[in-house]
Amino acid sequence: MRLKEQRCVILAAGDGKRMNAPGSKVLCEVAFKPLLRWVIDAARGAGITEICVVASSDDVKKAAKGCVIAEQNERLGTGHAVMCAKDFLKDCGQNTLVLCGDAPFIDSKTIDDSFEAHEKNGNAVTVISAAVDNPKGYGRILRRNGVLAAIVEERDCTVSTRQITEINSGAYWFKTADLLSSLGSLKNDNAQGEYYLTDAVQILLKSGKNAGRHVARYSDIVLGANTPTDILLLNEIAQKKMINKHLENGVVFISRHGIIIGPDVEIDAGAQILPGTMLSGATKIGSGSVIGPNTILRDTVIGKNSVVNSSQCTESSVGDGATVGPFVQLRANCHIGDRAKIGDFVEIKNSNIGEGTSLAHLTYIGDSDIGSFCNFGCGVVVANYDGDNKYRTVVKDYAFVGCNTNLVPPVTVGEGAYTAAGVTITEDVPDGALAIGRVKQENKLGLGAKKLQKYIEKKKK
Ligand code: UD1
Ligand code: CA
Repeated sequence: MRLKEQRCVILAAGDGKRMNAPGSKVLCEVAFKPLLRWVIDAARGAGITEICVVASSDDVKKAAKGCVIAEQNERLGTGHAVMCAKDFLKDCGQNTLVLCGDAPFIDSKTIDDSFEAHEKNGNAVTVISAAVDNPKGYGRILRRNGVLAAIVEERDCTVSTRQITEINSGAYWFKTADLLSSLGSLKNDNAQGEYYLTDAVQILLKSGKNAGRHVARYSDIVLGANTPTDILLLNEIAQKKMINKHLENGVVFISRHGIIIGPDVEIDAGAQILPGTMLSGATKIGSGSVIGPNTILRDTVIGKNSVVNSSQCTESSVGDGATVGPFVQLRANCHIGDRAKIGDFVEIKNSNIGEGTSLAHLTYIGDSDIGSFCNFGCGVVVANYDGDNKYRTVVKDYAFVGCNTNLVPPVTVGEGAYTAAGVTITEDVPDGALAIGRVKQENKLGLGAKKLQKYIEKKKK
């Protein structure tokens, strides 16, 4: 972990004017993860622990949790943004990595490899660059006799420099002292009237320092997002990359259609992901499980050999050999036991469902602890909210809850107890008891036939 001694500044205070939309650009998502979090995780993954994010809005500061925040109150350019982190840099390690918060594919290996080149060549600055097919919108790498001479922004390019296809990624290693000294000399006499960090390269070269480039191993690494079209492009690249990674690890896909997988999702070999499935956050899938079609899992852990079909689950877990769906919603904090069966049109919230329990159809369970091997008939509803407060319901092992039972908590249904179809349970049911709480049925003989006759006559008129 040689990068532990170094520090990183991430620029994330830009206006994102070219997005033509409200909100911070660096919070736009690629594969369900904000651009800024991709960048923070790349720096952390390389072993850097001291990270400062230059931010202006509260939502960016919030997204940068775990990092030092430097405020940039006026957007005067990337050079000015680094100046705002001066206090962080002053007592900084020898070298500083500067990253852009809008370029998500910078990876730990590129950070590590470029640092090696930076150190080896004794550079004051090492620019991470790449050769791309379409350099539009990026700063061009100007070389003289094969070595880095300057970075020229697109708007300041001449017709010939515009043809250059080696671009600046916006990521650099600087010797911290050289970075700080060059910042003071930046000027804003350019097409945008901004203080460009890129000008630091020429300033350092002029003062006789070494400046070099590290060409990234493939061009995706340096791609940034300035427009909505860029966000779509980055998402398409991420989608391909993620599926390819999981294919290599032995995950089965029969189609790529509509499948989006976040970068932090873990899928074991032998699991299958069907079309229309979106997996995000810290989701984990065990081997032999089949997820999809048309399923959304966020921060959800699925065990081995389970099926989740056409369902949505958030911050929940499902054990081994369980089935969920079709058309199930597991809201936050649900834990479904091994071999449980959660069938169609069931919604569960903040509840534990024991091993082998069956909630097969048309049921709502909220704030409940349901034991193992219970059977719920069709249409059971937990009335967990009285308009002011929420209460818990407990159903113990082997209980049999009849169709259309209402459970009104706080209430406990005992072990092996039964509730009759259509009852409203407001009091505890002892172990092994059968609860019936409905009005006795009365049959008015012949009254149905009479009513029907009247109805038929009306229809005939
Ligand atoms: C910048 C580089 C360009 C490079 C490209 C790579 C400069 C002058 N240009 O251009 O050479 O090819 O990145 O993607 O640096 N930001 C601030 N405060 C500001 C301005 C920007 O924090 O005042 C942040 C933005 O939030 C963004 C990053 O800095 O995350 C880059 O800014 P952006 O305006 O997107 O620069 P580019 O025009 O893309
Ligand atoms: Ca940019």
